Amino acid sequence: MKLCIALDLPSSEQNLQLLNSIKEHNGLWIKVGFRTYIRDGKKFLRQIKEINPDFKIFLDLKLYDIPNTMADAAEEIANLGVDMFNIHASSGKVAMQTVMGRLAKLPKRPLVLAVTALTSFSSEGFKEVYNKDLADTATQFAKDAYNSGLDGVVCSAFESLDIKNSTSKDFLTLTPGIRPFGEDANDQQRVATIDIAKDNLVDYIVVGRPIYKSDNPSAKVKQILEKL
Ligand code: C5P
Repeated sequence: MKLCIALDLPSSEQNLQLLNSIKEHNGLWIKVGFRTYIRDGKKFLRQIKEINPDFKIFLDLKLYDIPNTMADAAEEIANLGVDMFNIHASSGKVAMQTVMGRLAKLPKRPLVLAVTALTSFSSEGFKEVYNKDLADTATQFAKDAYNSGLDGVVCSAFESLDIKNSTSKDFLTLTPGIRPFGEDANDQQRVATIDIAKDNLVDYIVVGRPIYKSDNPSAKVKQILEKL
């Protein structure tokens, strides 16, 4: 299991300061989301790799558009040198296959994950948009992503094992909502510890606030890595 740190601080300076404070730890994944990428862009991605070339970058932009536009964007993302990015499974199988087909032409490609159902959806809210049952549809989206050649999905730690059972043990799961040792849940509705993530064969845990809000982020990262 790998640790992916959510870089959600409000300025690039604060995010870079956090990275500098944890740079001695190898094998870390860094999640860069909408806000950071829109504000700080490509330069920021270069700065991450300058701090530690071994840091891996997950660009969390959740692409959703027509197939050709998604494939164009995916190719540009690959050219940025990031190690992982994600797309919405609800963009459809053709879109997912078109993205993977385009990336297959490159000498090296990032890992591609699918977002199934956004966890912010209630069952009712999901039904309003998709007119389908949330849990069934999330599983179906994961199968579609697997059959379209994607590498894995973003999901809850509690869904990870079921998704692997209905696709493959090698189909990657990346799970936010992790409180490694049962720390404060903050605004997350259902949180999982490292032990729960391990039981569910999670591949990547995403951890934000328990690290960047801690008094000593480096010590926290060390404690998590030892547990993994
Ligand atoms: O601070 P915390 O550990 O709760 O951060 C979790 C990160 O994962 C945040 O960047 C949040 O936007 C992201 N995320 C999530 N739940 C999802 C998808 C992404 O918490 N379903």
